[in-house]
Amino acid sequence: MLLAHYATLLSRFTQSSLPLIFLALAAFAVAQSSIDLDWVPFDREQFNGNVALDEKGNVQLFWKTANESSTFGVASRSSGYLALGFSETGAMTGADMAVGYKDQDDNFVFENRHAMGFVTPQVSPDQKNNMQLQEGHQADGVTAFIFEKQNKADCLQTQADVAKDAWQWFIYAISDENTFAQHTPGNMGKEYVKLGTGKSVSLNQIRDIDDTKNFTIVQPEVTIPTAVTTYCYSLHKMPAGDKNYLLGERPNESSELLHHLVLYACYGLPDEYKDMVGKEPNCDYEAFSNPCNGFVTEWAPGMTGRTFEPGYGKPFGTEQYEYVMLETHYNNPERLEGVKDTASYTFIYTDKPVDTEIGTLTLGDLQVEGWFLEPGKLLVAHSTVCTPECTDRWPSDGITAVSVFHHMHYRGRNARVQIIRDGKEITPLSSLRDFEYGYQFSKSLDSVKLLPGDKLITTCEYDTSNDTEPVPGGLPSEDEMCFAWVDYYPANSVLACTQVDLGNSAENEINGTAALCLESSAASPDVYNSPFLTASFQNLSASGNTCPVENTTSGVSNQAAVLNTCPETDVCFSLNVPQRSASSGSGDIYFQLSAPVTYSWVALAQGTMMSNANMFLMYSSADGKNVTLSPRTASGHMMPTHNEATDVSLLDGSGIFNDRMTANVRCGNCDSWDTGTMSLQDSNSNWLYAHSQGSPINSDDRNAPILQHDGEGGFQWDLSRATGGSDTNPFTDAATITTTTSPSAAEGQHSWARLSTQTQMRFVQAHGALASLAFVAIFPLGAILVRLTSFRGLVWTHGGLQVFGYAVFVAAAGLGIFIANGVAYLQEPHAIIGMILLGIFFFMPFIGIIHHKVYKKVQQRTLWSYGHIFTGRIGVILGMINGGLGLQLAHARRSYVIVYGVFAGLIGVVYIGAIVFGECKRARRSSQNAAASSSVYPESKRLKRDDSGSGSGASQETTI
Ligand SMILES: *[C@@H]1O[C@H](CO)[C@@H](O)[C@H](O)[C@H]1NC(C)=O
Ligand SMILES: *[C@@H]1O[C@H](CO)[C@@H](O)[C@H](O)[C@H]1NC(C)=O
Ligand SMILES: *[C@@H]1O[C@H](CO)[C@@H](O)[C@H](O)[C@H]1NC(C)=O
Ligand SMILES: *[C@@H]1O[C@H](CO)[C@@H](O)[C@H](O)[C@H]1NC(C)=O
Repeated sequence: MLLAHYATLLSRFTQSSLPLIFLALAAFAVAQSSIDLDWVPFDREQFNGNVALDEKGNVQLFWKTANESSTFGVASRSSGYLALGFSETGAMTGADMAVGYKDQDDNFVFENRHAMGFVTPQVSPDQKNNMQLQEGHQADGVTAFIFEKQNKADCLQTQADVAKDAWQWFIYAISDENTFAQHTPGNMGKEYVKLGTGKSVSLNQIRDIDDTKNFTIVQPEVTIPTAVTTYCYSLHKMPAGDKNYLLGERPNESSELLHHLVLYACYGLPDEYKDMVGKEPNCDYEAFSNPCNGFVTEWAPGMTGRTFEPGYGKPFGTEQYEYVMLETHYNNPERLEGVKDTASYTFIYTDKPVDTEIGTLTLGDLQVEGWFLEPGKLLVAHSTVCTPECTDRWPSDGITAVSVFHHMHYRGRNARVQIIRDGKEITPLSSLRDFEYGYQFSKSLDSVKLLPGDKLITTCEYDTSNDTEPVPGGLPSEDEMCFAWVDYYPANSVLACTQVDLGNSAENEINGTAALCLESSAASPDVYNSPFLTASFQNLSASGNTCPVENTTSGVSNQAAVLNTCPETDVCFSLNVPQRSASSGSGDIYFQLSAPVTYSWVALAQGTMMSNANMFLMYSSADGKNVTLSPRTASGHMMPTHNEATDVSLLDGSGIFNDRMTANVRCGNCDSWDTGTMSLQDSNSNWLYAHSQGSPINSDDRNAPILQHDGEGGFQWDLSRATGGSDTNPFTDAATITTTTSPSAAEGQHSWARLSTQTQMRFVQAHGALASLAFVAIFPLGAILVRLTSFRGLVWTHGGLQVFGYAVFVAAAGLGIFIANGVAYLQEPHAIIGMILLGIFFFMPFIGIIHHKVYKKVQQRTLWSYGHIFTGRIGVILGMINGGLGLQLAHARRSYVIVYGVFAGLIGVVYIGAIVFGECKRARRSSQNAAASSSVYPESKRLKRDDSGSGSGASQETTI
């Protein structure tokens, strides 16, 4: 009595002061948030939504959605890159990402990237349509940016659609480093966010609800068997009452071996099962037949709790069902012994009426076994149809779907439920891309209306590329499943709507495929023939796109990105790396060579040097109508020979058309070859090309002899910009997106690549000629003079000559560095030796002068002398040898090599001869001097005598 009184008082008080309390709370919240968010460097007023993506509130997301495009702002209390992803499931896989960071020059860089899996997201081929940066900040330990995103991403598979009014998974990664790399644990997270204002019923979150009760279903402890797959069943009685309502669900901690659990509602449970309550679970799943087929809920990896919005609840009780069957699936691949589990699940419920009763409809393949998936396919679809005869049993106003739970096993990739109304497909109920087994969730829907007579097609798509045998549907986790459980209101008696395969048997009333409709009021499902099972919508092509229905027939969702480069105006190369190859690091890549028939052959090669490159030659075939593709490798300076190990094929679209040769090529093992490798994700992959103009080769022989090239070069390709599409010939597909990179835009080789091959050739020749002049002529001459001649001013002649030689060398080295930079040869021994010599020789004149001064004083070689003399000798000989390395690197003509070899050899011999001769002469004289000085001059006087500067200066100097 007293309690009731208090309750009334309390409720009066709360009613009258509720607006006040609310206002106060709101003001507090506003004040709180504005204080808390003062660190956000952009104008927050422009947005109409905000949520913290992490628990501490250090990563804040802001948004303003509109019809065509929406604006997002993201700010993080970190001082490195900040990545925000639009994800389908909360996983990285398939996420469309906005990445902001500062580069070395302190510029704010914004990139649209795409994550193909749990790997570094790749730069999207589209950097301008999908996302655009509006402002970027990085200062004082905060990184933030605002960007605009198109709501509809043109069906480009690597980009996400964002609905104006819907739930969206956001993922983020932050760092204190600006180098975009793998995030460290803890610096990432996911959040399911409701954009816009639309009504939502089922929330993937745990929220307290006042004035409610709760109960926990506990499976009595089991020792998980050592079998890989175990299903256990335990029966539980729900809280008593005619009508109660589930308001929320909270999964509890379980063994890691728990693969999933399902709670089935038992409508009209036969009495013989009821004594299972309180007993040990029945884990003899192959013998046990579960009599319960309503659906209450499921837990699978990735799931958190759920709460319905106020006013909604799922009915249970004597009017519905009183018992539930808990099914636990244990997956014990390592066959661990003695692991115990007490799986449990807590429900929040009320016995007070709710405004709206929620029901669950099971779609997908209830017939868990008896179907198979084709092995070895990137995407293979499995569909089931829910026919209009069953949906006709809904109330005449239809039902409103509020959430859907898609369930598959490890091979699952995409899932969807399509709606066919009056024979036409309308916007799907749900379409989930990039399913991840570990990230399952109840997908919130924006209240999708379904009408009686609708036909629903539930499709699951799987990746069976690792399988060699047909993959069965089945209970074990290594088999597959396909379910879609739809929560909707108002609840009605239809529990499941799908199809079954009855096989052929004499006892059958229906043979083959039949429709199935299960109602809570019926003891067994209705199975019937339906004309709708064979509708053309059933066998959907495996695609997984999210394009509007109008576009689903064209294959545009599988757009391949192709990079195109024309290093010479008429010689062009293109490349595509299929999505799958890029993410797995191996597999097919596609490239194209194209050139006029005025070239006798054209080659594209992977690598930095022809001598270790993976080469592909194209020349005209015997009939002159097609091209011959010849994979080759070159050893040393030999003509490249056919390499049998390369897995290549010539594709459609190859041939000679309009006086142009085109080779469309698939290569299955271009990630590595005998002498090198190429990462299929390399953003600076090195490529070479070569060609020779002349008459057609007209041969089908892949080892046909070819003439020396008359032009060659190198360029880099950012493979991430060539990534995308399915594993098919991208050059004959109209949907392919081609990005043309002029070689001048390629990094690190700006000016070099802009030059014509002829000019490049001249640069290389000039470099060679100047360096040869320095090392094979001037430097040796200067040194030989000193050894063999003697005249007044010899020292200065020597010095002048060598300084002149150094100037010539500087010119040669300048050219060399320019060339090496352009063709990515800076790491080559030739370049390194050259640069070391350039550095060391710089000091030679100074050391030379010191040596000369000191020598004049002490009349004897000092450390300075040896430094000068031996550095010179070793340096000059090294330089001569380096010339040879350079010729090798340039694949110089044989005649050049011979001329250089002979000349350098000759000079080398004369030079060494002069050194030997000079040293002998010196040794003779210094032994005479030594005899003289030791007998005539005491040690202490020698210094003085040297000061005189008299004597035959010239002859002294020759002993340097
Ligand atoms: C369930 O109810 C008990 C007692 O009413 C309460 O202590 C407990 O916190 C509740 N559990 C949940 C998950 O709400
Ligand atoms: C196929 O095998 C690879 C390597 O074992 C694995 O990473 C990948 O997840 C597998 N794919 C599927 C669909 O199971
Ligand atoms: C089903 O197929 C079996 C065997 O092919 C046949 O004997 C039986 O008559 C068929 N039943 C119907 C209803 O067509
Ligand atoms: C050239 O050969 C390839 C591979 O056999 C083929 O696909 C293509 O159609 C041929 N082109 C012409 C013009 O015959």
